Amino acid sequence: MKAVVYAGDGRVEVDSVTDPRIQESTDAIVKVARTAICGSDLHLLDGKTPGMREGSVIGHEFVGVITDLGSEVTRHAQGTRVLGSFLIACGSCTACAAGRFNFCSNRRALGLGTFTGDLDGAQAEYVRVPGADLNLKLLDGALSGLSDEEALFGGDILTTGFYAAELAEPEPEDVIVIVGAGPVGLFTAAALRGRCARVILLDRDEIRVSFAQELLGQDTAFLVGEDPHPVVARETGGELASVAIDAVGSVDVFKSTLKLVREGGAVVVIGVYGAERVEMSMGRAWVRGLQVRFSGMGNIHAHWDTALMTVAKGGIDPTRLITHRLSLDDAVEGYRAFAAREATKVVLTP
Ligand SMILES: NC(=O)c1ccc[n+]([C@@H]2O[C@H](COP(=O)([O-])OP(=O)(O)OC[C@H]3O[C@@H](n4cnc5c(N)ncnc54)[C@H](O)[C@@H]3O)[C@@H](O)[C@H]2O)c1
Ligand SMILES: [Zn+2]
Ligand SMILES: [Zn+2]
Repeated sequence: MKAVVYAGDGRVEVDSVTDPRIQESTDAIVKVARTAICGSDLHLLDGKTPGMREGSVIGHEFVGVITDLGSEVTRHAQGTRVLGSFLIACGSCTACAAGRFNFCSNRRALGLGTFTGDLDGAQAEYVRVPGADLNLKLLDGALSGLSDEEALFGGDILTTGFYAAELAEPEPEDVIVIVGAGPVGLFTAAALRGRCARVILLDRDEIRVSFAQELLGQDTAFLVGEDPHPVVARETGGELASVAIDAVGSVDVFKSTLKLVREGGAVVVIGVYGAERVEMSMGRAWVRGLQVRFSGMGNIHAHWDTALMTVAKGGIDPTRLITHRLSLDDAVEGYRAFAAREATKVVLTP
């Protein structure tokens, strides 16, 4: 089959690879109808994700139809339409039992390298999904009316936005600043709408800011330079934010979020980090009573019902983020456009 593979040295290629087959009794094989490129895929290319294997299939956002099932899968049948979770949880450990699927002690992820289970990803004609009963969501009932594109981001960035919104613990009087108006920042802003006094979304890229303004309103998104502090100070009359969310995953952004919150405020880190290190003034953080919440992987299974039902009820139209629709054959161009921020979201059809 055709698939997007990690080609080493920060490159991807469309290549011919062996079709996946059932390996574990809980597996399903899904014929991919739509797949997308995520900000985390860019981290495979910028060297931030350790343990990438050359020739491995990448990608982790997908909707498709089940073509084969392991003997222990009970909730799915061949021919049904499903949404996949990027996070592959076991469903039986203590963390899973508590609904904290992102801290599953057998945690894996699709297409994100050898440190997360070395599972091949979904930017392909077919993908193997372990723990199919838990990690594939049947698009039936109230969700059956969703198109593939409407459902597609529910297995990652849309639901990660809802998870980030939960971590922010919004109160009606809160001003919440989000740095990074990529898909994750946009969906976090959408998930926070109506749950706090104001959301302020910041980005250093003009195209991203004007896109966010179109989507969420002129007074929601702002262009920032190196230091976002002056914009936040201006917009909050000097009060600063109750919560600042790092939806980028860069040390500079993390450090700046610490300065964007008022005393007793919280910083939520949803952007991904690898080997970076940060020096911070402990005394200053201590006396200001800052809270820092690292997200870990998005807790998809705990929030995808809420996220998808919001889409089904018309609360969010995730397809508005799709700027590029390409064939899987043109994935290399899709990666280029996404990395250059020309694209907000690239959807590939195998
Ligand atoms: N925790 C999770 O499970 C999870 C899930 C999905 C994505 N992510 C991560 O979330 C982050 C965002 O993902 P995305 O898909 O939106 O990626 P993206 O790359 O499309 O968006 C990042 C945005 O940040 C902006 N940016 C970069 N540096 C900036 C700076 N210094 N100041 C202001 N803006 C800046 C960019 O212009 C871009 O618009 C990534 O790190 C991704 O890996 C985490
Ligand atoms: Zn992702
Ligand atoms: Zn588990």
